[in-house]
Amino acid sequence: METPLKENIRIFPDHEAASRSAASLFLKFAGESMGGRGTFSVALSGGATPIRMFNIIGSEYADAVQWDRVHVFWADERCVPADSGDSNFGIAYELFLSQVSIPDGNIHRIRGEGDPSKEAIRYEQEIRAAFPSGLPAFDLVILGMGMDGHTASLFPDTDAAGETERLVTSSYGGQHRGWRITLTLPVLNNAKNIFFLVTGSEKAGIVARVLGESEERESLPAGLVNPVKGKLIWFLDESSARKLTMRKG
Ligand code: 6PG
Repeated sequence: METPLKENIRIFPDHEAASRSAASLFLKFAGESMGGRGTFSVALSGGATPIRMFNIIGSEYADAVQWDRVHVFWADERCVPADSGDSNFGIAYELFLSQVSIPDGNIHRIRGEGDPSKEAIRYEQEIRAAFPSGLPAFDLVILGMGMDGHTASLFPDTDAAGETERLVTSSYGGQHRGWRITLTLPVLNNAKNIFFLVTGSEKAGIVARVLGESEERESLPAGLVNPVKGKLIWFLDESSARKLTMRKG
């Protein structure tokens, strides 16, 4: 690992407290970004873990953010239609984006209904167009982690997880998960802030493998998320952190 690990690990009593803290830091970073460049770009993940956080943002922060200055992207998307129950866009839209006054043009959906490889190319173009120059730097990327150590749709031992040039690629998650479209590590690690929100006792093993003493971290996509210049914050609850022995030093 070239860059020294800089993560900040925060352990909360339960999923609710972790979700609430992540939501309030979302609000803080949104305010800071707008105070700086005037806009706030965030890339969301899917899965079950962020649902409560989306719910909190949509129900409690609707009036606390200048949503016309927020641009929402996705760290990954399942290759399903937007109205599918599996759509990461669909979940975020229902719980959060439909509850706030964000202009449609600020919602940069990955078109899961499209051809995966063509949509990966299109989405990369959309991201590049949204950032003035150089490697896009999201103000915030919100990630989860699967029990195999995947994050976004970067699954272990796949070309997508090893991609070093493209910003967006398609990724086959196996028969159960199917095709996905995902941001790659170069653009994830160029973010100014990255949150991992990982809760629940079923994640304790993988949390210990990624954040614990073992060198295994570098073989797991979530373990390769280490922002070059930005901040990395892990929001855990006591259940997901129960096997974690903090690294010394
Ligand atoms: C997705 C996510 C994925 C998710 C992990 C954890 O599209 O599924 O982006 O990376 O964060 O699979 O999912 P859970 O939160 O459901 O455990």
